[in-house]
Amino acid sequence: MNKPNAQMIDYWNGAVGERWARSQDRTDLLLNNITDHLLPFAAAKPGESVLDIGCGCGTTTFRLAMAVQPNGSAAGLDISGPMLDVARARAQAMNADIPFLREDASVYDFQPVFDLVFSRFGIMFFDDPVAAFKNIRRALAPKGRLAFVCWRDFKENAWAFAPYAAAKHLLPEQPPSDPHAPGPFAFADSGRLKGILSQAGFNGIRIEKLDATASMGATSDQAADEALNVGPLSRAARELADDVRAKIRETVKETLAKYQTPAGITPGVACWLVGATL
Ligand SMILES: C[S@@+](CC[C@H](N)C(=O)[O-])C[C@H]1O[C@@H](n2cnc3c(N)ncnc32)[C@H](O)[C@@H]1O
Repeated sequence: MNKPNAQMIDYWNGAVGERWARSQDRTDLLLNNITDHLLPFAAAKPGESVLDIGCGCGTTTFRLAMAVQPNGSAAGLDISGPMLDVARARAQAMNADIPFLREDASVYDFQPVFDLVFSRFGIMFFDDPVAAFKNIRRALAPKGRLAFVCWRDFKENAWAFAPYAAAKHLLPEQPPSDPHAPGPFAFADSGRLKGILSQAGFNGIRIEKLDATASMGATSDQAADEALNVGPLSRAARELADDVRAKIRETVKETLAKYQTPAGITPGVACWLVGATL
């Protein structure tokens, strides 16, 4: 039998994981507003034990670790070696005792010890989402809860769709893609998502719309770099020659300039805030 999630394990340990590890500060800015909604939604409390799934470089794990003081604890779990290296180096620099496990959440042998299982965009990459969430459910303590954020439809997410649509004529023909395949927009359909969680055994499922803005940089130059660094355009343009990428960058820069505000380039983000109980 093939190892589950083999493709995603390669993906997050290859060039993409390396790039996320290098540019986590930028990504954290991009996701700042979302995080400001997600943390109160998850409502980690002093004394709780929290697990951050798909924690990447640990930004939210550190925030959770602070929220559960005194007497609480936080741990991060991810499949990406390069991103976990950053998380561990940050923990060391802060003298923080936070375990960061390199494990696949869909198969790791969890003990039922966590009051909160949390994720910021780290749970959309499973080959078999029902089996994965069944396994994740095993990590919850008796009154435990799940809280995560995932993307709604690609077209509703201007931060990703606007640059992609602007550059489409310069991109090679993209093969038709399965909207439910592991990837950022796999849970865009909230009915399907609710079905996955309920088949996995979760109760009290809440799926709430979150509309906010992304912070793509102070200038359209920075925003164009960001669009080529993260999201569907970055994937589609990754292998292209430098001169084509330069043309794409110019086109995208012009489009993203339309989102200029006093706070920088801030196109919309469309997410689901998802909560569930054991
Ligand atoms: C979009 S990134 C988000 C990272 C981080 N939560 C953040 O917000 O910066 C998705 C993360 O999920 C992790 N991931 C994907 N599949 C996973 C799995 N099966 N088990 C654990 N982590 C996984 C990836 O390695 C990556 O770090």
